[in-house]
Amino acid sequence: MRAPLIAANWKMHKTVADARAFAADLLPRIGDARGVEVAVAPPFTALAAAAEALAGSDVALAAQNVHPAPSGAFTGEISIDMLRELGCRYAIVGHSERRAIFGETDAFIAEKVAALQAAGLRPILCIGETLEQREADRTFEVLSTQLGGSLASADAARASELVVAYEPVWAIGTGRTATPEMAQAAHAFVRGWLRERFGADADAIRIQYGGSMKPENAAELLAQPDIDGGLVGGASLDPESFSAIIVGR
Ligand code: 13P
Repeated sequence: MRAPLIAANWKMHKTVADARAFAADLLPRIGDARGVEVAVAPPFTALAAAAEALAGSDVALAAQNVHPAPSGAFTGEISIDMLRELGCRYAIVGHSERRAIFGETDAFIAEKVAALQAAGLRPILCIGETLEQREADRTFEVLSTQLGGSLASADAARASELVVAYEPVWAIGTGRTATPEMAQAAHAFVRGWLRERFGADADAIRIQYGGSMKPENAAELLAQPDIDGGLVGGASLDPESFSAIIVGR
């Protein structure tokens, strides 16, 4: 079965010193949490410190973004090799903040997915509808378009290493969470789409839920059959609430 993946997306929070303090506080709280994979996605500047502080633990390191080119004149960007050198296992791609604020398209995200897979890193592909799209009954259409575009060049032989994060935009940072039923319906749709594309390997793909996940609502969300973990923003900044999601599931 799929071991859930619970990942902290710190977004633009935490310095090097903060990352060290977080790791020191988190590790004893989660002990050797079994049956779950835990990952932390610090900002780029804190990746090396987080790698050092988490060394020897089972907590995986994730990047929040990546550029698909191996190197070149891309001021301000970070390559896959740079992330691999620091021990990153995952990279988040297509986060709604990158789509909405930085104009990232499905075509650009598709390049990232393919480049990560070719390098043996695992993409965490974020998808999700806005409130306007949900209210217009377009949720599945939007998810389908994002999946089709972002996975256009995906390597089917490495499909089982993909992670998809369903993050309804209206639930991100708003305190408004999808109900377990709403989330499960979206996850089941995503699973069905992945089955069409990748066949039986789709059953190995983790589909995380993201959007105001916190200790009070996590267990019920994680109990749904197609919810295989969480991508946690605000509640991941505090080791107490992040660990409570992990151990309380
Ligand atoms: P919040 O948990 O703060 O709503 O953020 C979710 C998210 O965007 C994770 O990537």
